[in-house]
Amino acid sequence: MSTVIHIEQLSKSFVRNDQEIAVLRNMNLDIESGSFVVIAGPSGCGKTTLLNIVAGLLPPSSGAVYYKGAPISGPRLEVGYLTQKDTLMPWRSVERNVEMPLEIRGVAAPERRRRAAEFIRLVGLAGFEKLYPHELSGGMLRRASLARMLVTMPETLLLDEPFAALDAQLRLELQNELLSLWSRQRSSVLFVTHDLEEAILLGDRVLVLGAGGRIIADEPVTLPRPRDVFHIRFRPEFTSLHRRLWDALMESRSQVQRQEVKL
Ligand SMILES: Nc1ncnc2c1ncn2[C@@H]1O[C@H](COP(=O)(O)OP(=O)(O)O)[C@@H](O)[C@H]1O
Ligand SMILES: [Mg+2]
Repeated sequence: MSTVIHIEQLSKSFVRNDQEIAVLRNMNLDIESGSFVVIAGPSGCGKTTLLNIVAGLLPPSSGAVYYKGAPISGPRLEVGYLTQKDTLMPWRSVERNVEMPLEIRGVAAPERRRRAAEFIRLVGLAGFEKLYPHELSGGMLRRASLARMLVTMPETLLLDEPFAALDAQLRLELQNELLSLWSRQRSSVLFVTHDLEEAILLGDRVLVLGAGGRIIADEPVTLPRPRDVFHIRFRPEFTSLHRRLWDALMESRSQVQRQEVKL
């Protein structure tokens, strides 16, 4: 297996109230091509910062991230990023939002329409193509954002808590859609969540980040695929893995809180 993302001695600090805060400190990580890697960690531990850097939207303070061996210096067309907040364009309908990345790539209008329609259907938004973002519920916005990211079939997907705000039923549906798409395309996925059940259900590997982006757990998920969302949690491997990750998450939470108190 080859490495798609190589993170080397990555550090990132921000200045807040004249004080420098080190969000990521000398982080090292390799992501294997075609793998589904989940990053879990409490709020404030640096997950979004990490994805922003990997997406090429934020420069590191020191260290570097490589994509297939080349240093990342800006956004890349073959990497799709679903940000934590929806960034649909308010003046464009669902259909026109989903078509946008294809427009940027110079895909002709009829082909654009066809592909947008296919992905709109895939995320369950058929019939809502003509609506504008302000007319959509939170769940529909997420689906539209997901369709917009998937429409170019990126070889690598970065997803930042994509399903956090959705109700349980819809979350299960979209998790299943994502898994079935991934099993067909074998894209490399870096998926951020704070939900350990989701992490184990989806991932080949789950990392828990602590304060300073320190990796305090790095566990392979050996549960067989396809995974059944409803039954998986009763398997003994699930329970023991969940417990180990839970302990790491609790440790991480107290680390992050201690760091916050110091600021
Ligand atoms: N642009 C910024 N300026 C100052 N501080 C920031 C900035 N972005 C993030 N931070 C701080 O960095 C820490 C990590 O943030 P973030 O990466 O969003 O964490 P997470 O996604 O894990 O919740 C937080 O303490 C946050 O306040
Ligand atoms: Mg975040």
